[in-house]
Amino acid sequence: MTPLRTRGYHGCTLACSRATTILHRLALVAFALAASAYTPPPLLHTDINFQSGLTCRGCHVDITEQWTTSAHASADRKSNPLFGRMYFTSLKETRGATMVKCGPCHETASFVSNDFEKLRDVSTEGVTCVYCHAITGTGPPAAVPPFTLLLGPYHGPIRQAVKVNDHVSGYSDFITKSDYCGGCHQYQNQNGVLISDTFGEWKRSKYAKQGVTCQQCHMPGGPGRVSSMGPVRPRVADHSFPGPVQNRALRDAATLALRLGKRSGDTLRCFAVVTNVGAGHAIPTGNDQHLLLLRLRLTDTGDHILWENDPFQDWDSSVFGLLLANDLGVYPAETWNASKVLSDRRIQAGATAQSRFEIPMPEAKGPLRLEAQLLYRRARPETIHAYGLPEDTYGDERLVARATLQVQNP
Ligand code: HEC
Ligand code: HEC
Ligand code: HEC
Ligand code: HEC
Ligand code: HEC
Repeated sequence: MTPLRTRGYHGCTLACSRATTILHRLALVAFALAASAYTPPPLLHTDINFQSGLTCRGCHVDITEQWTTSAHASADRKSNPLFGRMYFTSLKETRGATMVKCGPCHETASFVSNDFEKLRDVSTEGVTCVYCHAITGTGPPAAVPPFTLLLGPYHGPIRQAVKVNDHVSGYSDFITKSDYCGGCHQYQNQNGVLISDTFGEWKRSKYAKQGVTCQQCHMPGGPGRVSSMGPVRPRVADHSFPGPVQNRALRDAATLALRLGKRSGDTLRCFAVVTNVGAGHAIPTGNDQHLLLLRLRLTDTGDHILWENDPFQDWDSSVFGLLLANDLGVYPAETWNASKVLSDRRIQAGATAQSRFEIPMPEAKGPLRLEAQLLYRRARPETIHAYGLPEDTYGDERLVARATLQVQNP
């Protein structure tokens, strides 16, 4: 392949001549100029032929396999229907304005090469190899995402990479920094509402002060060969962005403790205490769909359920997350309509949240057992319903922490 050399491309800009065609096809009215926050296009890139991630496999076997299983590889509208269906709904509701407001972070390659018809394989690869390895620094704040791309050489953390005919390598210090991830993992909507602030949360945490980067927790890796054609190196960054089961750094994100309070009449007060001990940012972080829930259950010695809470009826004590509202105060608002944050119950790095519960006690005497679980959930029930998403993928609740307590009655 001939390395492409285009200097100074800034994020996605509205070069989108073809975008207009697509919008007509979607029978959308005028192209709303919420897009006017865009830096004008430096160049048209229809001549760029990005390589698909799969062409890297021959030499970067492990890295390619890992990336294929990552959320980055399936960030586009087809592979992730939660994003895809919201994207299309937002296009309708904003008359196309979100095309350049959502697309460039989730469907990286098509925006640089103007391939909105997805004629090339690489355009359906979500957050793809060649895009991430073209990022050389921050760009104008108005670009989405705000990066400067240097197309051609693949940039990485190796100063003197072994030379190959297939591509030119370039050293980049930026790629080892949290700011690199922050370009995509932080954004606000057109009303100035911070939808995702993972980078800001990290920046304000003790991890930033200690120099612990996103890459150190999320791409640990170990010794090995970067390429079958190169030497063994002390660390090859893991590209699978594995979850807590496979990644030690993510296993103990939070602790949960139960504490008994006063008993008055037939109600028992109890406190659930959640501490963010392991995440380098708030939990949950990022998109407002992501939630942590507290589920509590009181049982007797025969395992009969005497009481349990319903987190979604009790947002202020049982749910940790971000709740957005629109101009009219209607909530939860979609990210592209939100004009304010109604409630922010995310637990910042190192912080503790305490929730109070009033539990009705049964008349029957005998020892009881109170169990609490802290669960991670990827989408709200009403979102799954409204967008017709598969329950097993998006409604699955993953156990983060657990606590139990014996209760004497009386
Ligand atoms: C070009 C934009 C972009 C860059 C750069 C980027 N990400 Fe992402 N990342 C995304 C998108 C989009 C998703 C969402 C994928 C999905 O869920 O569909 C994502 C998903 C993730 C996830 C999985 C989240 C989950 O809910 O499972 C992690 C972890 C992550 N990124 C960490 C990082 C780290 C660490 C870096 C820096 C080394 C980074 N990302 C750089 C765009 C980016
Ligand atoms: C979300 C952005 C992102 C994507 C997508 C991505 N990479 Fe990387 N890659 C990185 C980062 C960040 C590093 C450096 C991590 C570090 O040093 O801490 C890296 C490092 C590398 C390295 C150097 C290995 C090392 O650890 O020294 C190679 C080679 C590489 N990537 C190839 C690929 C290939 C091939 C793909 C696709 C199959 C890919 N990358 C996809 C962000 C990405
Ligand atoms: C013909 C084999 C071959 C192919 C195909 C190939 N690479 Fe490489 N690549 C290498 C070798 C060899 C190195 C140097 C490894 C070393 O020095 O340890 C390298 C290094 C890299 C680096 C690190 C650069 C640095 O200085 O840190 C990145 C990033 C990278 N390749 C990305 C890619 C991507 C993305 C693709 C697919 C689009 C790809 N490579 C395809 C062989 C290949
Ligand atoms: C000290 C280690 C650490 C650092 C530093 C760190 N993270 Fe995380 N990250 C975690 C843990 C732990 C989790 C939660 C794992 C879980 O339960 O899903 C997590 C989860 C995530 C998720 C998934 C959140 C969700 O709700 O699905 C994303 C995205 C993410 N991190 C991105 C980043 C980015 C971007 C940075 C840098 C700005 C970063 N992380 C820095 C440890 C870290
Ligand atoms: C600046 C980059 C950026 C922009 C712009 C952006 N996103 Fe994202 N989005 C991300 C990243 C990074 C993630 C993954 C981590 C997280 O949850 O923040 C994500 C996650 C999501 C998720 C959760 C996906 C899942 O499966 O868990 C949805 C839904 C989503 N985005 C929709 C949208 C929509 C709709 C728009 C436009 C209105 C949009 N995004 C604009 C970067 C962006």
